[in-house]
Amino acid sequence: MSSFSEHTPQAMASCFHTVHVFDSPALLARAAARRIALLAQRAARTQPFLRIALAGGTTPQACYQALREERLDWSRIHIYFGDERCLPTSNPQRNDRMAALSLLDHVPIPEQQIHRIPAQQGAVLAALDYAACLQHAGPLDLILLGMGEDGHTASLFPGLVDPGEQRLVIPVLQAPKPPSERVSLGPAALLAARQVFFLVAGPAKHAALQRLRRGASLPPQQFKLAHWYVDRAAWHGV
Ligand code: 6PG
Repeated sequence: MSSFSEHTPQAMASCFHTVHVFDSPALLARAAARRIALLAQRAARTQPFLRIALAGGTTPQACYQALREERLDWSRIHIYFGDERCLPTSNPQRNDRMAALSLLDHVPIPEQQIHRIPAQQGAVLAALDYAACLQHAGPLDLILLGMGEDGHTASLFPGLVDPGEQRLVIPVLQAPKPPSERVSLGPAALLAARQVFFLVAGPAKHAALQRLRRGASLPPQQFKLAHWYVDRAAWHGV
């Protein structure tokens, strides 16, 4: 695995606590899947369940496919979602449909341990429902997140999140990335997680990563202890 990790001193003042840089998205995906499996194996020694929130979008798909090959006790995994698009349940553009096709339909996880965001109810009702679900679950052990070219993560878009937002789950009604109506874990839920992994690949993400490295107040900036899994194209722009 061709990668290196950075604990750069200035990183402590930013969200880049630990950065793993890989030569390719495939190597990134495999390494992230390996790390998730290790987390799950370690957690199995000390806690009954591991609660993981999955990222949406396209980048995590390769990681989810790689996770199918890892040895995990899926009977002890509860799956949540970082955000969901307000589309009908069967719509292939939904994040939970992507997760099913790339992972959940291929592993023996009990159906009742997959906690989907009921975004088909509409953002406001779904956010209330999912907040109750998260309240019951308690802090998540691991949240996987992607990052958009504008620096958004989950469905927290720059300039659209109230800095004082305390709700665990928020309705998003004017997302610049279609569909405009979404449901997202709020900053409070993301910050409460024991671990946060960002999975970011491709040259299109380089500009946003550079802005973050320079301290721009984009949504990922608040996660001071995040682990970043990036490829060279995103991190170095080449
Ligand atoms: C979504 C995701 C979103 C995604 C980023 C990156 O619903 O679209 O939650 O936050 O993670 O936009 O998407 P890509 O991985 O497809 O670049």
